[in-house]
Amino acid sequence: MVVPYHGSGTSGPLGRFVRDAMSHAWSPGEVARLALRNRPDTAPPSELAWLLASGSTYAEQVGLDVAAGLVPGCPDADMKLVLATAVADEAKHSAVFHAYARAVGGSVEEPGDAVEELSRDLWSLDDHTARFIAHTLAEGFAADEFHWFERGLAADGLGEIYRLVRRDESRHVALGMSYLTRGPGADRLRRLPGSLLLASEQIVLRHTDVEALGSLVHRLVPEADAARVAEWFRVRHETRMRVLTNVRGDGHEPLRRRKPTI
Ligand SMILES: [Fe+2]
Ligand SMILES: [Fe+2]
Repeated sequence: MVVPYHGSGTSGPLGRFVRDAMSHAWSPGEVARLALRNRPDTAPPSELAWLLASGSTYAEQVGLDVAAGLVPGCPDADMKLVLATAVADEAKHSAVFHAYARAVGGSVEEPGDAVEELSRDLWSLDDHTARFIAHTLAEGFAADEFHWFERGLAADGLGEIYRLVRRDESRHVALGMSYLTRGPGADRLRRLPGSLLLASEQIVLRHTDVEALGSLVHRLVPEADAARVAEWFRVRHETRMRVLTNVRGDGHEPLRRRKPTI
């Protein structure tokens, strides 16, 4: 049974994150307008910026959909708090990318099949904890991508938007990892069959091409070597997985067979 939230997390790390979320409010339309007005370049934003903003519009909607879908089945008040802040943020993220893409290109590019497939795969995880883990791992990759987009899309004004969005995504990942490594969240992670933890990870990796990300980052930030950036993404993901498997500390058979490759 879910207990109403009346401050159980406010004094710990969760409370700190939630206060940060509440104090960091911004308006999507206003942010998109200012980002375009204040950009350092006089040339029109690139087509790539329009395409990335369009893609992010839909990717953020997948995040919103999954986070919102997890709220009703939350097994405890802390997890509900974690997800509620994410739902509010993802709606804002999708709106700001939509506003930017519309302002730059007059419309938003149609979503590709990959978005629908990602959504379908995430929803295919019936277990609440497993889907929460997949959501958190996917957000980890998103936050890492945005680290480079912030730098590589500064001239288009889109970098400033990714900077703000990344701040939220980093908080979502920290909140998710904090939940999964403490108290009832850690208990749930320990009880989760190893095969389901692996299935959660595999779904995220199926939709993450780190080599393609490395190439994209190199295109945006020419001094960044594509292969090294791809490795950076791998290492960051492996670190998150290590934190989760360390909490379990059980050496489940599927986890022993797990190969740390993408
Ligand atoms: Fe987001
Ligand atoms: Fe997020």
